[in-house]
Formats: sequence, C-alpha cells, structure tokens
Amino acid sequence: MTEPSRIYLSREDIAGLVERLASEIGGNYRDRSLTLIGVLRGGFVFLADLVRQLQAPVRRVDFVRVESYGAKMVSTGRPQIVQGISRESIAGQDVLIVEDIVDTGATTAAVLRYLRRHGPASLGLCTLLDKPSRRQVDVSVDYVGMTIPDHFVVGYGLDFDERYRDLPDIWVIDPERED
Ligand code: IMP
Repeated sequence: MTEPSRIYLSREDIAGLVERLASEIGGNYRDRSLTLIGVLRGGFVFLADLVRQLQAPVRRVDFVRVESYGAKMVSTGRPQIVQGISRESIAGQDVLIVEDIVDTGATTAAVLRYLRRHGPASLGLCTLLDKPSRRQVDVSVDYVGMTIPDHFVVGYGLDFDERYRDLPDIWVIDPERED
C-alpha cells in the first residue's frame, strides 16, 4: 500500500514544532547573521515556515539539491549533490542546514562534507524529523523538531515518488504487506 493511511502530525502539531525550533535557533544566533541552506527537495516547506518565524538576522537563504532516492522507500545508493550553493561564498559565515528528515544520515553527511569544503565559520544542522533507529552514518543534529520511529512519512514537503509534497499535514505510509 503506497497511499497515505493516517495523519501522523497535524498542521497544528507541525506549527508547534516549527515555533519551538525557531525560538531555540533564534536564541543561539541572536547576535550573528545566519545563512540558511535548505536541502531540496523535501526541505522547501519547512524552510519557508522556519525562516518566517526566526528571531535572528538572516543574511542569505540558499539551497542544495541531493539525489539518492528513486521511486522506492529505500535509498538507492550514495547521495550526490546535483545542485550546489550559488557562487557567492559561505566562507566565514554562520551556516545552518535545514533538512526535512534525517534517516540513514547519508544525505546529511554528504551535505556536511560539501559545505565544509566552502569554509563556513560554523555549520549547524536543523531537521524537522529524525529517525535515529535507521542511522547508518553518524551525524550530529543540533536542532530536532521531533524524533520518530521507523515510519515512512509524506506531506509538508516530504514525498513518495514525488507525490504528496503538497499535503499540509504529515501522513504515514505503511509498508507494503503481503496479505
Ligand atoms: P538519508 O540519506 O537516508 O538520511 O535520507 C534523507 C532523505 O531521504 C531525506 O532528505 C528525504 O528526502 C528522504 N527520506 C527519508 N525518510 C523519508 C520518509 O520517511 N519520507 C520521505 N522521504 C524520506
């Protein structure tokens, strides 16, 4: 079954998580100016909400696009940065990566490796959702909206085979069953 089966986090739940994260991040970066790097495609909705709640000066918003998942619910190999940050450097800047979900950690590790090469002054990581039980690559997450068990979730930017990104709530897709 690859249809969303039940709401896991309502839009109100999500708004609460975003508000808390924005206040945590705002408290830590109040006197610095932040460069936010969203991870496409899944992170676009979360970043859009977060940036409007942040009580910290935002110097720049940019995006990287990473590909590794095909039409399946499992990773299809080593993630590739298929679209990098624009030419202006992040060297010497306080950078915060904004992700939708950290699963095995491979995507995050690839983004961290890529951005470190550009010499930021600091590199933080914020994710709306974290699935630590699936971790294969050790990454340290600075800001977590919510830790979730091993569910495949869609909506609020998250897709299954490019579908469901537009759903305002986050839904669970149950794994296919041989009934
Ligand atoms: P990782 O490299 O395994 O950590 O996977 C990270 C990427 O996989 C995320 O940025 C998502 O695009 C995708 N992903 C992982 N889990 C889910 C999920 O439950 N729903 C939708 N996409 C997911």
